Amino acid sequence: MLRVGPLTLKTNGLLAPVAGYFDLANRLVTRGVPGVPCRPQHLGGPHDIGDGTYGALGLAFTELLCPHSLLKESDKAMWRAATSPEDLPVGMQLYGSDPVTLADAARWAQDHGATVIDINMGCPVDKVTKKHGGSKLLCEPDHAVTLTRAVVQAVNVPVTTKIRLGWDDDQIIAHTLPPKLCDAGSSMVTVHGRTTAMKFKPSVRLEGIAAVVEAVKAKHPDIPVIGNGDITTPDDAAKMIDVTGCDGIMVARGAFGQPWLFRDIAYRLATGDNPPPYPRADRARCVLQHFENLARLRGEPNAVRTMKTRISKYSAHLQPWPGLRRSAQTLTCAASFRDFWHAGIEALERGESPPGAENLAASQA
Ligand SMILES: Cc1cc2nc3c(=O)[nH]c(=O)nc-3n(C[C@H](O)[C@H](O)[C@H](O)COP(=O)(O)O)c2cc1C
Repeated sequence: MLRVGPLTLKTNGLLAPVAGYFDLANRLVTRGVPGVPCRPQHLGGPHDIGDGTYGALGLAFTELLCPHSLLKESDKAMWRAATSPEDLPVGMQLYGSDPVTLADAARWAQDHGATVIDINMGCPVDKVTKKHGGSKLLCEPDHAVTLTRAVVQAVNVPVTTKIRLGWDDDQIIAHTLPPKLCDAGSSMVTVHGRTTAMKFKPSVRLEGIAAVVEAVKAKHPDIPVIGNGDITTPDDAAKMIDVTGCDGIMVARGAFGQPWLFRDIAYRLATGDNPPPYPRADRARCVLQHFENLARLRGEPNAVRTMKTRISKYSAHLQPWPGLRRSAQTLTCAASFRDFWHAGIEALERGESPPGAENLAASQA
């Protein structure tokens, strides 16, 4: 069981904060994928990986939130911070460098549904680092500690930190900063196994994550360390834990278009095997669910527009489906979106090839 302060998570699979992607609508889809009942040998009996209602996701995060916009309650910030009772437990991630403002924003987050407050110490984007926030904090370790302490003192919910290995190869902080963040009250440390200079490419450095685990455990054996970077399959998740000794995994890009990944990971980690593939009709249902969530939360025109930008990610996991991406771009209203996906789901359930949008329109004419 993964514990974050007083909180016990259902699984050790965490959905990463991803700006512009894992909003409330998308998180609810990911949480909605049912768990897999299974009978792992070593657990000695039937075991439900996830409770079948909220799926196998342990904890999810909002994208990084600007404290000033949050406190001003700007429309954009309110959507980025939006959560709901079905979206629990949820971490709200804050960035910045001013302890007073960050503490105020943390109180706001606590009052508006955050189960956990996360401090971003990994963002490489200039707009954030130029103001000494995000991964720039890795270059100013004393300030990172001060900031953490200020937020911990401001709220009653657990405070966590998300870091990289350092700014660049000359400034690796894996052994030094993470234990100090825990001294200051961080209840969990997530480490993206790259430096800021690496941005999002060359491969993640598992040995760097292992160094963070070693440093934290030497001083704070009960504080979980979460490994992050390049996990796209259940085997990647198992490797992350085996090689680094981390307590749990966080997935960002690997969960684009495959919200059932956490179900697969939970099964793999509990049994050592990969689960039966998530049925294609159910995969297509995730797309429709994503659309309906957006329609409810943001209105149908927004839902149609947004899903067009999401479809290529889902499409990769729905093949074979001839012409899916092209067809999806021709859907201009909510009714045509629903008709198209309902017809696709029904065809997949019958074991047939789903119709393209043109065929569907012709058959309905
Ligand atoms: C488009 C994009 C937006 C991201 N936004 C955030 C963010 O808001 N906060 C954060 O801590 N990390 C953010 N990240 C980093 C991810 O959370 C994660 O650490 C990184 O992508 C490595 O994990 P992955 O290999 O599973 O993608 C973002 C990454 C991407 C690609």
